[in-house]
Amino acid sequence: MMPPDKALYKTPAKSDWIVMLTADDVALQARDIIMQAANKAIEDRGIFKIVLAGGTTPEKVYRLLAEESIGTQACDWKRWHLYLGDERCLSIDDPQRNSQMVKRTLLDKVDIPNGNVHFIAAELGAKEAARRYQKTIEQALPFDMVILGMGEDGHTASLFPGHRHRTDELVHAIHDAPKPPPDRVSLSVRALSENKNLLIIVTGSSKRESVEKWYEGEDLPIAAISTLGTVNILLDHEAGSRNA
Ligand code: 6PG
Repeated sequence: MMPPDKALYKTPAKSDWIVMLTADDVALQARDIIMQAANKAIEDRGIFKIVLAGGTTPEKVYRLLAEESIGTQACDWKRWHLYLGDERCLSIDDPQRNSQMVKRTLLDKVDIPNGNVHFIAAELGAKEAARRYQKTIEQALPFDMVILGMGEDGHTASLFPGHRHRTDELVHAIHDAPKPPPDRVSLSVRALSENKNLLIIVTGSSKRESVEKWYEGEDLPIAAISTLGTVNILLDHEAGSRNA
């Protein structure tokens, strides 16, 4: 499947940065952006294909999404298709898995059909899991929304500074991740960039140094992700107070 013409992609501009007061403000704004994108995608095409970020930052957002469906029944969950931006090569029930975090915060509370949940079989090992997920992602592109976090070193998903990857892959097998565990599976820059809405959420003072480098144009993995549509970069004051 050929990717869209390179000219159609746009990288985030400084005008896409929004510095909010607290991490709770970021989570509430992120929830609203996701719901808006979901309702539009479902209205336009009857499906909402979303790539979820791992780590801890998005947990608040996923819990708010679950409350949204409980509170107002505004979500047509049966139209949602979930994917993961990356996964850690741990046993399937390991609480450190991103899939387990998504189950705890969202999936166990909302009615998304099992067939619409496209997790990464990272328990099979990075190479086999990446081979299988490549086929899944080939079928899924383009995504309606990609959500990403950022690590303290400027990594996103499991794309780390200074690590080089094949450009013909949609999914990478990672064996030397500096953030444990070393073995991971990650969507590529190309796969993560094939989205209609890009939402990046970064909170906490530990991220401030990399946020500043990113804002000043340093070539970090987070800075390589682009979009075919809209971008929202949401930061709390601790992470982004000296920018935007
Ligand atoms: C992972 C994540 C990773 C995460 C960043 C930020 O598997 O660790 O995919 O890319 O998004 O490391 O993590 P926090 O949100 O926990 O700071």
